[in-house]
This record gives sequence, C-alpha cells and structure tokens, in this order.
Amino acid sequence: MSQIVVDNLTKTYGDTVALDEVSFTVPSGEFVIVLGVSGSGKSTLLRCLCGLTKPTAGDINIDDRPMTQPRPEIAMIFQQHNIVGDMSAYSNALSGGVNRAGFLKSIFQLQSKAEKQRALEALETVGLLEEAEQKARRMSGGQQQRVGIARALVQRPDVLLADEPVASLDPGSAQDVMHYLKDASNERDLTTFISLHQVNIARKFGQRFIGLHDGKKVFDGYREDLTLEAVDTIYGDIDTDGMFVGDEQSEADSSESDRQTEATL
Ligand SMILES: Nc1ncnc2c1ncn2[C@@H]1O[C@H](COP(=O)(O)OP(=O)(O)OP(=O)(O)O)[C@@H](O)[C@H]1O
Ligand SMILES: [Mg+2]
Repeated sequence: MSQIVVDNLTKTYGDTVALDEVSFTVPSGEFVIVLGVSGSGKSTLLRCLCGLTKPTAGDINIDDRPMTQPRPEIAMIFQQHNIVGDMSAYSNALSGGVNRAGFLKSIFQLQSKAEKQRALEALETVGLLEEAEQKARRMSGGQQQRVGIARALVQRPDVLLADEPVASLDPGSAQDVMHYLKDASNERDLTTFISLHQVNIARKFGQRFIGLHDGKKVFDGYREDLTLEAVDTIYGDIDTDGMFVGDEQSEADSSESDRQTEATL
C-alpha cells in the first residue's frame, strides 16, 4: 500500500530528454499501465521510480518519503528476468528475499521457515506451486516470467514495477502473465506500474493509463478515457487500426478469439 507522487520529473542524457517534466499522483493500490512508442521514456520512468536512475530534476515521493535509492519494498521485474536456469523455480523465488535476508544466508539456503513459506505462497500466486521443483531453464518463457514475478513477491513489496514483462511472449502467454500480475496486485494490495507495447493487452488489464510521447506525459486517465483519439495522441502517426479489436471484452472473459487478434506495436 503506497501512494506515489511524481512532481516535474525530468531526466536528460546529454541532449536527449528522456523524461520532460512528468507529474502525476497514483493512489495506493492502483494498477497503472505506461504506454508509449519505443524511446518515449517508459523504462526511464520505471527506473526512476525504483531508484535505479537518478532524475535530473523533479521529485518522486513514495509513501511520503523521497525516492533517492532503491528500497526493498519497491520491487522491479525486468524483461530479462534474472532467473537462474539451473536453479528450481522454488530456489529462484526464494532468492527474492535476498535484500531482506542477506546474501550469505541466501547462498547457504539458510532462510527461515517463514521465508520458505513465502516462496511457496508466491509460487502459488503465480500458479506454479506444482512446478516448484522444476529447473527454470526447462520452463516456457511465460512460466519463467512468472517465476520472476514470484521472486519479486518474496521481497514483500508495496510497489511492483514491471518493464515490458510480456514483450517477448506470444499473445496467449502474455495474457497469462498479465492475469497473474493483476491477481498478485489485487491479492497483495500492491501499487503496480507496468510498461507495455500492446494496447489491446493494456486496455484489457489496465485500470489507469499514463501515456508518454518524447518524454512528455500526453495522457493520464482511466479505461473509459482511453479512446481511439487518446491512443492516437500517445502513438502519433502509427496505424492504430485493429488495436481496439476485442475491446468490448473485459479482463474477466478472456477468449480464444481475443488471443488471436492481439495487436502488437
Ligand atoms: N542510459 C542511457 N543513456 C543515453 N540515453 C538513454 C539512456 N537510457 C535511455 N536513453 C534515451 O532516453 C530516451 C527514452 O528511453 P527509454 O529507454 O526510457 O524509452 P522506452 O519507452 O523504454 O523505449 P522502448 O520501448 O524501446 O523500451 C531514448 O531516446 C533513449 O535513447
Ligand atoms: Mg523500455
């Protein structure tokens, strides 16, 4: 449970303005999707939120505390999910407690019973309890990404950030992973930020949407506000036909036809 307040956040790299005076407030527990074309600033925003990138100007406050360095209660899931292929799903999940439990304890597997319980609960949240003993490298891309989510959950975060967590997955697996992210977020009352390329998937799962274009916030609203015109503003001249296919369906009634008509930018 954490409120996020971003005020005039700016990040420049030389002449490149990656984020340009971005401001928003996200109440505790919201499920936010960050949209934008390649280079619009999505990753930079998420990296600033988790303390990996230092802003050039502006402020980020999470839970009324300025965000100046990474904190264990703010977990980030990367597209390259840092999963160790030779380790079981369970051991990978358990290693998420490393920040809290200490590195040595983690390599000697000296975690407490409570920590082990948390790893199993996290695997259950992402639907992988049955596969707990399976080596990660023998799992599908979608399953590996779910192990990555479990690993982040073991950290017991209040805020969950995921940078393009489904970018490398086929539409079916992408939807599965999004379902588990949404369930985890609901179950644990996490404030969640996910960057996505796929507008259809975004609309299906998102509650709130923040659109970036050239580092500027060009959209901020809820599902009913994310009209075709709004998508045009975010994506500029890119052909957005087909992005709204299957739109009448909500997250609750995912169907085969919807999976087949997924539009990807
Ligand atoms: N470490 C860096 N050094 C220099 N420029 C950077 C760096 N990181 C990002 N940029 C630049 O900042 C801008 C925003 O990049 P960012 O990675 O945040 O975009 P993105 O929306 O995540 O793109 P993508 O969809 O391709 O992942 C781009 O112009 C990028 O080239
Ligand atoms: Mg990116």
